Amino acid sequence: MTSPTQSLWVPHATATTQPLTTDLDVDVAIIGAGITGLTAALRLTDAGKHVVVLEGRTVASGCTGGTSAHLTEAVDSRYVDIAKHFGKKGARLVAESSRAALEHIADLAGTLDIACDLQRVPGYLYTEDRGERDELAAERDAAAEAGLAVTLDVEPGLPFPVAGSLRFSDQMRFQPYSYVRGLERALLSRGALLHENTRVVKLVEGDPIVLTTDGGRTVRARAVFCATHMPLNYFLVHLKLTHEQSYVTAYESSHALEDALFWDTASPYHYTRTATVDGKRWLVIGGEDHSTGEEKHADGSFDRLGAYARDRFSVGEPEYRWSAQLVSSSDGLPYIGRNAASKHVYVATGFGGNGLTFGTVSALLVSDLILGVDNPWTTLYHATRVRLASVGGVVKEGLSTTSHLLRHAEVNHTSEIAAGQGALVHQGGKHLAVYRDPEGTLHGVSSRCTHLGCVLAFNDAERTWDCPCHGSRFSPDGAILEGPALEALERHPVTEG
Ligand code: FES
Repeated sequence: MTSPTQSLWVPHATATTQPLTTDLDVDVAIIGAGITGLTAALRLTDAGKHVVVLEGRTVASGCTGGTSAHLTEAVDSRYVDIAKHFGKKGARLVAESSRAALEHIADLAGTLDIACDLQRVPGYLYTEDRGERDELAAERDAAAEAGLAVTLDVEPGLPFPVAGSLRFSDQMRFQPYSYVRGLERALLSRGALLHENTRVVKLVEGDPIVLTTDGGRTVRARAVFCATHMPLNYFLVHLKLTHEQSYVTAYESSHALEDALFWDTASPYHYTRTATVDGKRWLVIGGEDHSTGEEKHADGSFDRLGAYARDRFSVGEPEYRWSAQLVSSSDGLPYIGRNAASKHVYVATGFGGNGLTFGTVSALLVSDLILGVDNPWTTLYHATRVRLASVGGVVKEGLSTTSHLLRHAEVNHTSEIAAGQGALVHQGGKHLAVYRDPEGTLHGVSSRCTHLGCVLAFNDAERTWDCPCHGSRFSPDGAILEGPALEALERHPVTEG
């Protein structure tokens, strides 16, 4: 399978605002116009703050547009584990904050009259392995104690046998792109500023904090919220994170499946949702996650996912397929709050597969912190925590980074690179990342990530250069698609041979 990727939610993303062309002085600058940044911006604007949102590409061009669009309190970390590491009170706060995020989204969709097809649906966690039934029962107990409405062994009605399941009531699903575009309209109508195609390339701490954009403009702000998935250049946060690429496919389908969220206990796991977009009913099936930059042929993940979908749901070829990067913390909960050594810079990352839910939790929590409002979730999620349970992960991530500084050439000659493929090559005394486009033209860039120098890997599904260390992604001509890298890759001429 080699067709280009495209999200069901964002078939044709275009900027609706102009890049920043003047210097600004604001109360709050928010970097990133996904669900996290726009939700926070709206809340802060409503509280009387002068807010600007700066987006490196277009609204929802990152994970918000690449999501599988589920809203759930049944987060990826099991409640059994959350209670073990953060106590029963911590588990209750995770459930409470996730529920608050879901209801905040439902409230905004209603009050702002956003046509985003928000539906309240059940969620099913199921297993095909009889040996995991006791684990499901334990999870039912832990989730119920945290406050979720959950039932054991309700038949999920999937078209294949399952060995056990949990049913979570009153979860949600929606059209995420329509929702964030609705937030954007509300924001602009209330006098906040939004500039797309405006990448922040420098942040200098102080009072005020000074941001510099790729267009050479400066923004002076009393507070900054990095709502970018990966927060700029804060190395200590990055050491506590892992990055995975997740794959999603969408099939136009009249399948008689309950309108619900489904996910299994396999590793890597699979998730299935129903959706209605443009009046059509869709089956959205995803999974086959792997560490970013570690899979030699990412297209193989789509192939495996397609085989799973054909086998379980009798579908044909997907109409849409896309991937997104998931960033997970080393202890299972996101890092949200003031950044280490900063007085007024806030970060939010490590959402795992629950980006829409935790993105909204982050917006609520960080806007409270900026406004000086007490929030009961502050200590649970604080961004500077290092728990004993996560130390192993931090060490492993550091060693992994070191190993990715040492990769070697993958081919001896550029003639070995097929159209649509990329490889690492030594040429002219330089170590290059070389891509051959479908017309046969070669594009050469530096093979080292501009963040901390790890060697990049080609992603043949998305046709991007991905960094296995902290998740930066670049286009074949070196432009930044996702940070934390702040500079494009240097371009180099390459020759055939
Ligand atoms: Fe950190 Fe590439 S993202 S080295």
